[in-house]
Amino acid sequence: MDNNVYLKDVTISFKTKAGTVHAVNHVDMTFNSGEITGMIGETGSGKSVLGMSVLRLLAANSLITGSIIYKNIDLLQLTEKELNQIRGKIISFIPQNPDAAFDPTMTIGKQIIEGYRYHDKKTKTAGISHGIGQLQNYSFHEPQKTFNSYPFQLSGGMRQRALCAMSTTLSPEWILADEPTKGLDAIIRQEVSQVFQDLKKITNSSIILITHDLRLAQRICDTVLVLYAGTVLEQGPAGKIFDEPLHPYTCGLIDAQPHKKLLPLSGMPPSLIDLPTGCKFHPRCSCRKDICCLTEPALQEVNGRWVRCWKYA
Ligand SMILES: Nc1ncnc2c1ncn2[C@@H]1O[C@H](COP(=O)(O)OP(=O)(O)OP(=O)(O)O)[C@@H](O)[C@H]1O
Ligand code: SF4
Ligand SMILES: [Mg+2]
Repeated sequence: MDNNVYLKDVTISFKTKAGTVHAVNHVDMTFNSGEITGMIGETGSGKSVLGMSVLRLLAANSLITGSIIYKNIDLLQLTEKELNQIRGKIISFIPQNPDAAFDPTMTIGKQIIEGYRYHDKKTKTAGISHGIGQLQNYSFHEPQKTFNSYPFQLSGGMRQRALCAMSTTLSPEWILADEPTKGLDAIIRQEVSQVFQDLKKITNSSIILITHDLRLAQRICDTVLVLYAGTVLEQGPAGKIFDEPLHPYTCGLIDAQPHKKLLPLSGMPPSLIDLPTGCKFHPRCSCRKDICCLTEPALQEVNGRWVRCWKYA
């Protein structure tokens, strides 16, 4: 049995006063174990919602259908108690904002060892030594001092590294990291990028990396998934996606980067309450044909990756 995570026809919506928000639409894909999979796409494309659905961390107004299979178990069918055995230990989530993830009134060390002691029923002494070792793994030069520090005493980059240490303390098989470089300045971003490059080596985990930072994705991901309006538009090896993107949306995302053409994508993503017919990208696409407005293309294998576009049908 493999350790892959299989998403089968996953659809996620949210009931709101304004109508039903169709955040993720019929996603069929596999996260391959042993790889770093990057999820990219503009804001609101459904990256966090799809990521959080794997551990059922979605808000109460959500409705999710389909299945998320890990080792022949459908994670969507587990009870909360069963899921708690998976969260942190088998699949760990590194949330978007380290400041919100840490309790400001507790030391870093106490927070790092809490999950370890709970799951593995370890003594306090074993927990402390494991926690300090974890901080050492993440390049803290004075791990003992960091262990006894409060979150506010660390810099942004250190807090992000400490969050990685806390989230991987149980050596999870899967790590789901949401925007680990968001809001960080260039130097700290570099520091955190390095952490993620090392993360796979340190933990031997498979990683799902949600990011707007395409350079980070290009540098460290094996596979990349491009999401738009909750739909997968392109998926394949990172080298192919970044060097020769096929989908017009992927091309636009890449050209918009500061170190590329710095050409912003024209138009805005559609309303998720009132999705366009046909290809969801058609209102913004310069390659659009009549069929694009009427019928949504299927994901098809093209040149060693999967693309959803009539240009390649
Ligand atoms: N609880 C909720 N109720 C209603 N809509 C929601 C809820 N949670 C998320 N959404 C909507 O789902 C859509 C997808 O959100 P998501 O957070 O996954 O986007 P994202 O791709 O992670 O964006 P970003 O890059 O800005 O983090 C958005 O339109 C968002 O407003
Ligand atoms: S299907 Fe048509 S509208 Fe959609 S991206 Fe391809 S060419 Fe553009
Ligand atoms: Mg997000």
